[in-house]
Amino acid sequence: MIYQIYPRSFADSDGNGVGDLGGIASHLDHLAGGPESLGIDAIWLSPIYPSPDFDFGYDVSDYLGVDPKYGTLADLEHLVEVAHARGLRIVLDLVLNHSSHEHAWFRASRASRDGPYADWYIWRDSPGRTPTGRRRPPNNWRSYFGGSAWTWVEARQQFYLHTFLPQQPDLNWRNPATRAALLDVVQTWLDRGVDGFRLDVFNTFFKDPALRSNPRRLGRRGRWTWQRHLHDRDQPELRDALHDLRTSVDSRPGRMTVGELFDDSMVDAAPYVEPRHLVFDWTFINIPWSATAFRSAIAARDAAFGPERWPANVLSNHDQPRHGSRFGDGVSRQVGDARAKVAATLLLTLRGTPFLYYGEELGLRNLSIRNAEAKDPPARRASWLFPWWNRDQARGPMPWHPGRGGGFTTAQPWLPLPADADTRNVERQAADPASVLSWYRRLLRLRRETPALQAGGQQLLDAGVPSVLAYLRYPGPAADGEPDALIALNFGTVAAPIAIPPADSGSWRVAASTGARPEGQTVTGTIQLSPSEALVLVRS
Ligand code: NOJ
Repeated sequence: MIYQIYPRSFADSDGNGVGDLGGIASHLDHLAGGPESLGIDAIWLSPIYPSPDFDFGYDVSDYLGVDPKYGTLADLEHLVEVAHARGLRIVLDLVLNHSSHEHAWFRASRASRDGPYADWYIWRDSPGRTPTGRRRPPNNWRSYFGGSAWTWVEARQQFYLHTFLPQQPDLNWRNPATRAALLDVVQTWLDRGVDGFRLDVFNTFFKDPALRSNPRRLGRRGRWTWQRHLHDRDQPELRDALHDLRTSVDSRPGRMTVGELFDDSMVDAAPYVEPRHLVFDWTFINIPWSATAFRSAIAARDAAFGPERWPANVLSNHDQPRHGSRFGDGVSRQVGDARAKVAATLLLTLRGTPFLYYGEELGLRNLSIRNAEAKDPPARRASWLFPWWNRDQARGPMPWHPGRGGGFTTAQPWLPLPADADTRNVERQAADPASVLSWYRRLLRLRRETPALQAGGQQLLDAGVPSVLAYLRYPGPAADGEPDALIALNFGTVAAPIAIPPADSGSWRVAASTGARPEGQTVTGTIQLSPSEALVLVRS
């Protein structure tokens, strides 16, 4: 399992209100290697490179450094070393579609059309002026963060492309020198001992060479969704570049990548998946709390990925509302937490590699932050033409224990702690066997002990009741041999029956249940799942 840390918000070791590498290093016991640890396999760190923070690190001004607010390169190397000593791997976030406008490459590129960096970004002349005298951009592409994807630079008398903010100019992957420099970045971090990379918006690296305008579709003019994004991403040349990048990663045994598929579906994700090179798809992020919705999404993804491709399972990340809120808003805290445990069970028992966003193990909900106080850059640009969900709400400080600062900081935190931090924190939940955290620890232990939960296939069961989702897990490909685990999840708030199919050999026993079911109990025939019960049976 890979655990995503948003470094600004995990733990602040130097008392400035912003999390840092020292804070992460001093909380590794929570993650792995200690008696009370979650027992995860790897940490993915959202960007830690020097950045002017127009997009909180997703605008990199030096790909090989560490931002002083997080520490030094030596601190990062220390973190890698102490993590490795616990069997924990470190995955960095590589933002290779765009740099910061403050990167030395862009400063040089914007200064003149002739210098060595002139062609490192995507520059074009203006095709003329509008009737009102404004310069026309080279095509109709939109920025995902609102407005045109093109910004004019007087010095060059040209526009440059930015799929995101104007402070995030897109790099020109078609220039061999740029591409070689980006691959050198990958190589350098591998040499420094990191174990893998999350690739930010990798499917936008290449754009149509002729920069053709995107065809329009219905919708409000000017919005991102107003176009079919045919020419500003997913170009055939990407395959070759990905191959080079992956070959470099594969030259070190045991390294991996996970690509962030930007604004595409699970069907688009599947062809990019290769062994040890995962691709995020947003299958479970966009659906409501409904067993039927999850069932069809799982079936559709199994069909798209087939038995060979290995999925990455995600319920939350730094861009999306926390699933504690998506699934728990509008119900009591108790039911919300019961759903958080059902969601945890899904995440940790479905076929695929689970990605857990920090704080989900406590069932954290979204912060409530007024728009006027938003720090998230696109949220500050939001308008009726450009609606945006303020991502600050999912990026709040981790509450470690009750009290001022919550153990996150001794200073004023950069974002407020959750309103319920005094009761919803690591210390409190560790002491409570019925907490969301205790359930995560229990399930992760079970996952480590049960090969069929780590690899192999799955098969959906027809539970016969719309509120129940049930599936079998196999140690090898599904349909080969016998299943070793059966998972039954009651999404409803009333009890629901489920007929447990007989085990071919041995019997089904309770391995973990959020209901009042003793571990080890044999289960046969039709049983009643209690409201919001998550039940995992193993065959023995
Ligand atoms: C995707 C990242 O997850 C998001 O946080 C960021 O704003 C954009 N890429 C731009 O880098």
